[in-house]
Amino acid sequence: MTARDLPTLSLDLRIHLRLAVREDLPKLEWYGQYTHYRTLFRRAFREQQLGRRLMLVADCNGFPIGQLFMQLHSADREIADGVERVYLYAFRVMEMFRGHGIGTALMEEAEALALERGFRWATIAVAKENHDARRLYERLGYRIFKDDPGQWRYRDHEGRMQWVNEPCWMMEKELLLH
Ligand SMILES: CC(C)(COP(=O)(O)OP(=O)(O)OC[C@H]1O[C@@H](n2cnc3c(N)ncnc32)[C@H](O)[C@@H]1OP(=O)(O)O)[C@@H](O)C(=O)NCCC(=O)NCCS
Repeated sequence: MTARDLPTLSLDLRIHLRLAVREDLPKLEWYGQYTHYRTLFRRAFREQQLGRRLMLVADCNGFPIGQLFMQLHSADREIADGVERVYLYAFRVMEMFRGHGIGTALMEEAEALALERGFRWATIAVAKENHDARRLYERLGYRIFKDDPGQWRYRDHEGRMQWVNEPCWMMEKELLLH
């Protein structure tokens, strides 16, 4: 039997940025990787319906392969105050799609959505050891403005309370109209 090369396919994929719809909720769990955040996704969606959050997704063939959520109001007015400052969070792109500009496109679109709504500052938290993400934010113009212990908790899909302890830098950027 002669050895032959197995085929390689080149795909021209369309990635479309849009706000999440209800049908995305189970898909945002990424086949189990983020099942523990089910209640957080549902709450974010309810808040999107109330105009308090936005769930931006990068859609590939109907599947959200990237996510970036925006919190317009927060009890901590230094990160989001409903008027001037908006907090970006839950920023992730599926591993096999990383390094192709999808994350940058999500950040830029989130900033455009914030500006359209009259916000002037965007904030984001980055874990202190996440040097790659910090470099990405710095490239986009974000600067550290405070240190945060990164302690928060959530109820997982089985109703168990989970505590997160991830010291982070809080970064901010003044959004400018182009
Ligand atoms: C951070 C993340 C959303 C960027 O998405 P992306 O589509 O790869 O972003 P882009 O292609 O637009 O930009 C890639 C940049 O992100 C950086 N990056 C961060 N983590 C990366 C990773 N795991 N793989 C590839 N690039 C990564 C790269 O260094 C690159 O920066 P550079 O241009 O200065 O070299 C994505 O890497 C990710 O989901 N990481 C894991 C979750 C995470 O850390 N989220 C941020 C929480 S603060």
